[in-house]
Amino acid sequence: MGIQWRDSLAIGVEEIDDQHKELLQRFNGLLSACEAGKGIEELKPLLTFLDDYVIEHFSNEERLQRKHGYPNYESHKKEHDSFIERVMAVKNEIDSEGVAVHHVMETNNMLLKWLLNHISKVDTELGKFLRTAR
Ligand SMILES: [Fe+2]
Repeated sequence: MGIQWRDSLAIGVEEIDDQHKELLQRFNGLLSACEAGKGIEELKPLLTFLDDYVIEHFSNEERLQRKHGYPNYESHKKEHDSFIERVMAVKNEIDSEGVAVHHVMETNNMLLKWLLNHISKVDTELGKFLRTAR
């Protein structure tokens, strides 16, 4: 189970691809934890990791976009910001209510849909641009 890395997900910019691989691995880690009945325990550390890592990863991408004058910078950044908001919303809910199964499912869903969708569309488009701009 999980999402296996495949070449079609590569956007052709090594540092970004490596970070995407790491994100997929973390996501798969959550799925394995769920299968082992440990989803609830694993969710908090995962969200803490995501909070740091995703912000760092997004700022890397955004820095590259600014450096090369990427024309879709604003809309790309909006996607990043709304993802961070969603992660934060789940984190805040957990802080006030404790972790529940629905948080695990929500995070699973969010990661699965967002990662695949964002990487295969928005980041792929960015990759094409960066490969010709560099
Ligand atoms: Fe991105």
